[in-house]
Amino acid sequence: MNTLSIRAQEIGGTLSQILNKFMLVQKNTYDHELNTNGICNLGVAENYLCENELISKLQSIQIWNTSHIYYPNSVGLLSFRQTLCQFFQNTFHLNYQLSPDRMLVSSGLSGIMSLISYVIGDKNDVLLIASPYYTAFDHDVSALANCAIFRCPLLEQDSGQFILSVEIFQHGYEKAVRQGLRPCGIILVNPHNPTGDIYDEEVIQPILEYAAEKQLHVVIDEIYALSIFDDEKPFQSMLTYKNIIDPQRTHFVWSLSKDFALSGLRLGVIYAGSESLCSCAAAINFLQVPSTIVQDIARMLFSDQSWIDSYVKLNRSRLTARYKIVKQRIEDLDERIRVRQTRAGFFIWADLRLLLHATTFEEEQRLFETIFSHGIYMSPGQFLGCSQPGWFRIIFSVREKWIDEALRRLKLALDVYNQSSIPSTA
Ligand SMILES: Cc1ncc(COP(=O)(O)O)c(C=O)c1O
Repeated sequence: MNTLSIRAQEIGGTLSQILNKFMLVQKNTYDHELNTNGICNLGVAENYLCENELISKLQSIQIWNTSHIYYPNSVGLLSFRQTLCQFFQNTFHLNYQLSPDRMLVSSGLSGIMSLISYVIGDKNDVLLIASPYYTAFDHDVSALANCAIFRCPLLEQDSGQFILSVEIFQHGYEKAVRQGLRPCGIILVNPHNPTGDIYDEEVIQPILEYAAEKQLHVVIDEIYALSIFDDEKPFQSMLTYKNIIDPQRTHFVWSLSKDFALSGLRLGVIYAGSESLCSCAAAINFLQVPSTIVQDIARMLFSDQSWIDSYVKLNRSRLTARYKIVKQRIEDLDERIRVRQTRAGFFIWADLRLLLHATTFEEEQRLFETIFSHGIYMSPGQFLGCSQPGWFRIIFSVREKWIDEALRRLKLALDVYNQSSIPSTA
């Protein structure tokens, strides 16, 4: 007899495939010392490249005080929000002051997305997003708010270009309306997951203009803003844009999970277009606001500007070096594999189309299953809403020994797949 609600029974089926697999892999993750038979996790976007520097800094922060014992403020600790405002001002060289009253801290960017969809959308409203994308957003916008993501495919996917343009949202908006849906917003991710592309203001502004015309909110997720590779020009955050056509509906979001590799702290932040968004969201955030001690630890970390500067520099140089090495090693596995040039983030966006026995999602799934059965988890494009079968997202920023083992197993898996044939449907 099932003692749980119908929706509890349904939740497994509604979880995006990347979240489903994430939970499965977490139960049995490979480690070169602790679990050599586990699954090599190249599917979850985490960054291990500076873990020693991070842990020694965190261990130097000893701060328990009486304020940590009591309830936190539902928008987030004021001193932490003030420190974050200062951090963004320094990082993006802003020539104006950010206001902590427009900032709210929640449980990771996932918690932030869930709150935003609740306060900008009503039940069954949709948020437009360029696909492929980080599909855990499906869960973020639906779990609490009962909204949904509406996919707007990036252009020129068959030629491997994945172009972002306002047209995709124009088409997406019209298509959603034809289906009887009400779009309430657009989510933009810059730098992009999974392509690692970086978008300049010239690309973003027409989208902001179109959103303003349709009275759509725009949520700009810059979670990888400081994880851009060394040879790239400085990242242009939306916080630096001089003219934002509909400022009240344009929101910046970020988290400590990627640029500071602190996904376990569950700290995400919104700098909202209006104070009222934060005060409405605070009522729900009461359920999930991170503890005061965690916010205070992060505040101490961000108060040390020279440590921040050296960490960001080191992290970027390690990401850049590691990306190049893993890209080469993956291309060396088989001459038919092509890795698309990435400019930021933790991902190898690999084109394995020429390996497929047929260019179909069924075949991509069969390749994925073969790889998974060899103990490697990497996300196939279909988990990320890619329109073309044969793309895989491989996280390169894990411990070196994990990469070594994963690539050893991947070679075996590709040999097995090569020798296999398409199952007959008869
Ligand atoms: C683009 C993007 N946004 C949001 C998130 C979720 O981040 P958080 O750990 O802060 O919930 C991720 C995690 O992979 C991501 O890639």
